[in-house]
Amino acid sequence: MIKIAPSILSADFVNLERDIKRVSTADWLHVDVMDGHFVPNLTIGIPVVKSIRKCTDMFLDVHLMIDKPVRYIEDFAKAGADLLSVHLEADGPTGIAQALRVMEDCGVKKAVALRPITSPKAILPYLENLDMVLVMTVEPGFGGQSFMADQLDTISQVRSLIRQYNPACRLQVDGGINPETARRVIAAGADTLVAGSAVYGAADPAMAIAALRG
Ligand code: DX5
Ligand code: ZN
Repeated sequence: MIKIAPSILSADFVNLERDIKRVSTADWLHVDVMDGHFVPNLTIGIPVVKSIRKCTDMFLDVHLMIDKPVRYIEDFAKAGADLLSVHLEADGPTGIAQALRVMEDCGVKKAVALRPITSPKAILPYLENLDMVLVMTVEPGFGGQSFMADQLDTISQVRSLIRQYNPACRLQVDGGINPETARRVIAAGADTLVAGSAVYGAADPAMAIAALRG
C-alpha cells in the first residue's frame, strides 16, 4: 500500500490549520525540522509539532534534519510525533543507536534517513530494528528542488536490503516527487512518498494527492 505524506514545508504557516485540513485525504503529515547546522535552513521545532498535534489526528511523520538528534527525541515524542527520522550523517554510530533506543522507549516509530551521498549499506547496523528508511531524492534543506534520478539506484538497493533483512520496514522517498517521479520511485521500490510543492503548489491538493497514488 502506497502512503502519501504531504510536507507542510510548502504550506502557508499563517494558515497552517487550514492547510493541514486541505491534505486530509493523505495518509501521513510530513514535518520538516531544520536546525541551520545540519542543513543551511531553519524551519520549525517542538512547539509547532505540539500545536499541530492538537489540530489533527493524522499520523505525524517528523523528519529531523538536525545535528545530534538524540538530544531532542524525547521532546518531539512528547510533542506528539508518531514517527521520527534521524539522519545517519547527523551523529556517530553510538549517537544514532542511542537516538533509536530513546524512540523505542518513547513508543514512537523509528526511521533513519540518508543524504544522497550516503551508501545504502549504512542502514545495515540498524535495519532489523527500523520501521522506515528515508531515501532523500534531493539534497536536504529546501522544498521545490529537482528530483535526483541517480537516487533511483539507491532506492532499489535499499529495497533489496529491506527485502532481505526486514520486509515490514517502509521505504520513504523525499524530494522532487510529482506524479511522474512518483511512478519511477514506486517502480524502484518506494512505498511512502513525501511531496511538498506538488501538493501545496496545486490548485486542488486532494487531486494532487490522488495523482501521486497513480
Ligand atoms: C527537503 C525536505 C522535503 C521537502 C520536499 O529537505 O525534507 O520534505 O519539503 O519538498 P518538495 O516535494 O517540494 O521537493
Ligand atoms: Zn522531509
